[in-house]
Amino acid sequence: MPSNMTDTNATDLAYHLHSQTNPQALSREGAYVVVKGDGPHVIDESGKRYIDAMAGLWCASLGFNNARLGRAAAAQYEQLGYYHSFYGRTNPQAAALSKKLVEVTGMKDGKTFFVTSGSEANETMVKLAWLYHAGRGKPTKRKIIARDRSFHGSTIVASSMCGLEMMHREFGLPLSGFLHTLHPNSYRVRQKGESEADFVTRLAAELENMIVREGPDSIAAFIAEPVMAAGGILPPPQGYFPAIQKVLAKYDILCLDDEVVCGFGRTGNWFGRETVGMVPDMMSLAKGITSSYFPLAAVVVSPKIVEAVERYNEAGTSFGHGFTNAAHPVGAAVAAETVAIYEEEDIVGRVRKMGPLLRERLKQATDGSPIVGDLRGVGLMYGVELVEDPSTGAPFAPARLIGAQLAARAYEHGLVVRAMRDTIGFCPPLIIDEKDIEEIGGKLEKALRDTEKAVREKSI
Ligand SMILES: Cc1ncc(COP(=O)(O)O)c(C=O)c1O
Repeated sequence: MPSNMTDTNATDLAYHLHSQTNPQALSREGAYVVVKGDGPHVIDESGKRYIDAMAGLWCASLGFNNARLGRAAAAQYEQLGYYHSFYGRTNPQAAALSKKLVEVTGMKDGKTFFVTSGSEANETMVKLAWLYHAGRGKPTKRKIIARDRSFHGSTIVASSMCGLEMMHREFGLPLSGFLHTLHPNSYRVRQKGESEADFVTRLAAELENMIVREGPDSIAAFIAEPVMAAGGILPPPQGYFPAIQKVLAKYDILCLDDEVVCGFGRTGNWFGRETVGMVPDMMSLAKGITSSYFPLAAVVVSPKIVEAVERYNEAGTSFGHGFTNAAHPVGAAVAAETVAIYEEEDIVGRVRKMGPLLRERLKQATDGSPIVGDLRGVGLMYGVELVEDPSTGAPFAPARLIGAQLAARAYEHGLVVRAMRDTIGFCPPLIIDEKDIEEIGGKLEKALRDTEKAVREKSI
C-alpha cells in the first residue's frame, strides 16, 4: 500500500468494490475520501477543499450540506421511518409528492410510479411500454431504440439502452432488441457544410430507416435525454425532437424522456423537455428530485399508460411490478422539501442567470487554447472538448486519456470535473454564485495550462 494512504483508504481498498473505477489505478492511488460538504464545496480527509463542478454525479443540486433537507428527513424518520406501496398501501408524503410531480412535469391527468434509482425508472418505462402495446393487441412491439453515446443506467435493460461500449463490454450486452441510432452531436456527427436543418433531417431519416428496416411492428419505444449528459454534454440541434417525434408518431412508437440529469432546473427550465421541445409519453426522474439526499426516483406517465395498466388488470389481477423501498415516506418528505426549495428560491431563474455567466467564464478560460475544440451546453450544463488540433477538430488518440489527465490536474487545484473521454463536464450544484463561477474558471485555467504544457512537452 502506498505510504500516503489513510486507514479509510486501507479498509476501502481491502473491502470496497468500486463503480466505474480502474482496479489497478485504485490500488496504486487509493480512493479520494470525502468527509464533509459546504455548499458546492467538498472537503477531503486532509482538510483540502474542492469546488465540485459536477455536483457529485450531476445530482447534488442544492449542494452537499443543505440543513433543510436534513431536518425534513429527521422529522419524517421520527413520524414514520418506512412504509411501502404494495397491495394498495401508501403514506401521506408519497401521495402528496405523486400529485406535485404530475403538476411540475406538466403531465396532465398522468400519475407517478415511484422507484429508487434512475436505472429502475428507465427500466420501468420499458416494461410499461411493453404492457401498453400488448394491451392494444400489438404484443410484437418490443424493441427499444436509444442513441449511440447515450447513458441510461446500469441495470440490464438500462445498460442495454446505453450506447456506450464501457457499459456492455464485460457483460455480453446489449440484449437483443435494443438498438442505437445516430446521436445528435453537432461537433462530431454533423458533416462539414451541412446546415443545422439538414443535419436534423438526416438524423430523423436515419431513425426512420432503422424503424423500416427492423419492422415498425417490432418497435415499442424510443428513449432519449433532452440534452445528452454522459455522452458528452450534447444539446440537440434546433428542431431535433419535433422531427424525431414526427417519425415516432407515424409508426406508433412511444417517446420516453430520460430526465434523470436534465430534470429539476438543470437546463434552465423545470424539465429538459421544455428546453428542447419534446412531448413525451413517460418521464423518468431521479437525482435532482431529492438533490440526491435520498435514493428516491420516479416515472411520471401520461393517462394512456395509466389506462393501459388499469385495462390489463380489469379482471382482478395486480400490476406485477414494484420495489420494496419505493414511495419511501422519508424519501418523499426529502423530495417535497427539495422541490419546495427549488420553488422558493426560483432555482430555474437562478440557472438562467448563472448559466450564461458560467458559459462566459469557461469561454474566457478556454479561448485560444491549443487543445480546446468545442465549448457547448445549456443552463448549468457545459462540456469542453479537448482535441489534438482545434482547426480540424482532430481528436487525441484515446489511449492518451487527455481528458482524464486534465481532470486529475483540476483535482490537484481543488476543482472536481468529469472527463467523458476528452470532453470535460461542468454540471455544478444549482446554488452556485458569481464567486463560485470565478473559482471554477480560475482553477480550470490552471489545470488547462498544466495540461497544455504536458501535451507540448509530450509527457502525456
Ligand atoms: C441520463 C441518466 N439516466 C439514468 C441514470 C441512472 O441513474 P441511477 O444511477 O440513479 O440508476 C443516469 C446516471 O447517471 C443518467 O445520467
